[in-house]
Amino acid sequence: MSPVEASPTSATALDPESVALHLLVATQEAAMACVPWVGRGDKEAADAAAVAALRSSLALVPGQGRVVIGEGEKDDAPMLYVGEELGTGDGAGWDLAVDPLEGTNYCARGAEGAIAVLSVAPRGTMWGTSGWYMDKLVVGPGAAGVVDITAPVEDNLRRVADALGKAVEEVVTIVLDKPRHTELIARIRSAGASVIEIRDGDVMGSLLALVPGGGADIALGVGGAPEGVLTACAARLLGGEMQGRLAPQSDEERTLLEGDGVDIDAVLHLDDLVAHDACAFVATAVTDNTMMPAPQATADGWRTSSVIVTPRHRPLFVQALVPSGPPTAYDAASEDPLPAPKR
Ligand code: FBP
Repeated sequence: MSPVEASPTSATALDPESVALHLLVATQEAAMACVPWVGRGDKEAADAAAVAALRSSLALVPGQGRVVIGEGEKDDAPMLYVGEELGTGDGAGWDLAVDPLEGTNYCARGAEGAIAVLSVAPRGTMWGTSGWYMDKLVVGPGAAGVVDITAPVEDNLRRVADALGKAVEEVVTIVLDKPRHTELIARIRSAGASVIEIRDGDVMGSLLALVPGGGADIALGVGGAPEGVLTACAARLLGGEMQGRLAPQSDEERTLLEGDGVDIDAVLHLDDLVAHDACAFVATAVTDNTMMPAPQATADGWRTSSVIVTPRHRPLFVQALVPSGPPTAYDAASEDPLPAPKR
């Protein structure tokens, strides 16, 4: 399960800068494929559209890609399954983590916070997991090195406050609004810090803590384990810190992990989750978020908003025109085309 360090000097080492624009096109296309589905109450159809668009775009990315964090194992997901090979097939080998539509509920409800997101790292350096849930703690560069996921939350809030030169009362946390976090949220508030509760989308939530000026100081709590690997790439590139620990939420998940011989209690650090600096993280907004607006129709096409994070760009916010606009989407039952989206 431990990642293998890839040689950064290898002739076929991944150059994240040179693949970043290809990855940007891939997340843009995934986001545009979701546009007709925003607010239509069908998260599966939206996700399927994003998966198909992302997959065909990723076939054009230079190199030998392999899905490490995908839509599911081969038999469960026909596309972007763990182990699927993508890319042009020649050149550097890379590991890929994808969430073609992160925040499926947001997209279905027409609510803010949905993104298309992926990250790549040199082949063999990304942590693959059969876990579904992970307890995570994410801070930006100003508080890197002071937190400890095994410590009480009150201690971490104090350490973050000290590192940032703030009072605990000024610390802003991001936590998924889930019943499992009732006690955590109460403890954070009684320690004096504030909590932004988000219904879904902890990759985006973590970005708010990682990007300077994002509006949060620390993201914490239990979310998806695959989302944890995506977040780790961003944390590594942005000079932040992330710690994680698998947090099975059912007997089925625990049994699965035990069957795989996974040390469930191990604390995972950035080097465990993504063992190389030469990685890239790209996300495109599907619906609005506080950093990036949703795709918008203009006279010349649709303007998309994305964030690229690579060793050179930490981060780079990009607006790009997609002249063709969103693809036509079809209602599954009637097979009629959905109305063309307007904004
Ligand atoms: P989806 O986009 O796959 O629906 O995931 C959204 C999400 O909120 C993630 O951001 C988060 O990590 C995970 O689901 C939390 O899972 P759950 O909703 O089961 O608590």
